Amino acid sequence: MKLTYYGHSSFGVEIKGRKIVFDPFITHNELARSIDVNRIEADYIFVSHGHGDHISDLVTLAARTGAKVVGAFELTEWVAKQGVSNVHPMNTGGKWQFDFGTVKCVVAHHSGGLPDGSYGGNPMGFLFMTGEGNFYYSGDTALTFDMELIPRWAKLDFAMLPIGDNFTMGVDDAIIAAEFIECNRIVGMHYDTFGYIKIDKEEASRKFTAAGLTLLLPAIGETISL
Ligand code: NI
Ligand code: MN
Repeated sequence: MKLTYYGHSSFGVEIKGRKIVFDPFITHNELARSIDVNRIEADYIFVSHGHGDHISDLVTLAARTGAKVVGAFELTEWVAKQGVSNVHPMNTGGKWQFDFGTVKCVVAHHSGGLPDGSYGGNPMGFLFMTGEGNFYYSGDTALTFDMELIPRWAKLDFAMLPIGDNFTMGVDDAIIAAEFIECNRIVGMHYDTFGYIKIDKEEASRKFTAAGLTLLLPAIGETISL
């Protein structure tokens, strides 16, 4: 599976020819100046929660591409109010079979208000189970014992976990999370974008390696095969 990093917690993956984008926050990410959001293609946009650093390009990207927006019920209701009608509401614990594979919504311990003060529903992570591989996109979350459930549902090929600390897990908790989810290939996200979450990347990689894990930190705009 090919995965492209758009900075912060935003990625693109392609599964069965379907282009899937996560948490688009590009225009307002100073580190992602090299990415032209107007050239990103999407058939689906998965949104973990309503914070600005996960949705700032959501409405414009969905409107231009016609992509289906998948997220918590209240979040998709809000998106629909912005004029985007192609939405799929879900909620924690539920799964759905899409044309590229099955996605299960899992617990994320975080908050989820929208920038205009609207209630955005529960924050969520997504577990993707597809013929081309399985992965977990945790969204913004603390380390939680709920993660121990994930190996019951899927054997993971890789996972995207936050490592920036302050608002989410940091490196040390992400290493414990990797053990909980029984996955040794972790793609780091939610780091370096703003002052509160700047990290020492070399130290982070050293800690993962010492724990017998691989931390992948693709450059913004880089595509890697997993
Ligand atoms: Ni957040
Ligand atoms: Mn965030």
